Amino acid sequence: MENILIDIQDPVAVITINRPTKLNALNKSTIEELHQAFSSLSTNNDVKVVIVTGSGEKAFVAGADISEFANFSVEEGGKLAAKGQEILFDYVQNFNKPVIAAVNGFALGGGLELAMACHFRVASDNAKMGLPEVTLGVIPGYGGTQRLAQLVGKGRAMEMIITAGMIDANTALNYGLVNHVVEQTELLNLAKGIAEKITKNSSVAIAKAIESINAGFEDGVNGYTVEINNFGACFGTEDFKEGTTAFLEKRKANFPGK
Ligand code: COA
Repeated sequence: MENILIDIQDPVAVITINRPTKLNALNKSTIEELHQAFSSLSTNNDVKVVIVTGSGEKAFVAGADISEFANFSVEEGGKLAAKGQEILFDYVQNFNKPVIAAVNGFALGGGLELAMACHFRVASDNAKMGLPEVTLGVIPGYGGTQRLAQLVGKGRAMEMIITAGMIDANTALNYGLVNHVVEQTELLNLAKGIAEKITKNSSVAIAKAIESINAGFEDGVNGYTVEINNFGACFGTEDFKEGTTAFLEKRKANFPGK
């Protein structure tokens, strides 16, 4: 991989977007590498949680790489958004293992969209977040108009997108856009600490919980029905047998992840 680093310390994988001289902007090859990384982590049974962060102290990701699409046609622009949503942003949202964004600086445009596609976000106190696309004469195209409104509410999303303004980490915390804010030096420890708690739980149940929560935000899908079906399916898993048996035997569960 040229643009990302992957550090797997079982059972947590940290993906670092590593183009610091371009503030980790997402060019085409970075998006493709991220897809490959997620794709291989999805079948790696040793990995239970993924953390995504940016290299350096300044940026998580400062957006899609503007230099790559500056001369695009209408058709090319549409394809850029569709392909990116399919192979990265929707892919991460629907990933079968929890994905935590550790927002360590600027998360702008596609960078904030990537953080929002993750299952939840933590941030360092220097982080700045925004969707500044309208300053370029374009709109967010990697799901930003949808996910920001889902996460912070329609009015706040409207204001952020239309003014193109950036919010700081504490405002993002207040908006519910990030779950925790810490000093930058503590950010990865915080994310890893949360990841460790997650790894103690049933990975099969977690995958079904992610799918059920996401279902409520999909058009034409009844989230309650998905929940009922996934709830039922849990009863057929080894994890369920282990979890309930361990509780009744007053011991900690040791989930097989099946
Ligand atoms: N695409 C391509 N390159 C980018 C980029 C992006 N989204 N964001 C930053 N860069 C590059 C800059 O062009 C510069 O490259 P250079 O040194 O070769 O000229 C380098 O990263 C450093 O950025 P710079 O602008 O010099 O840093 P800064 O501290 O002055 O400003 C930002 C930081 C984040 C405010 C500023 O880089 C910025 O506004 N970036 C674009 C944000 C954006 O509009 N994102 C949405 C894209 S859809």
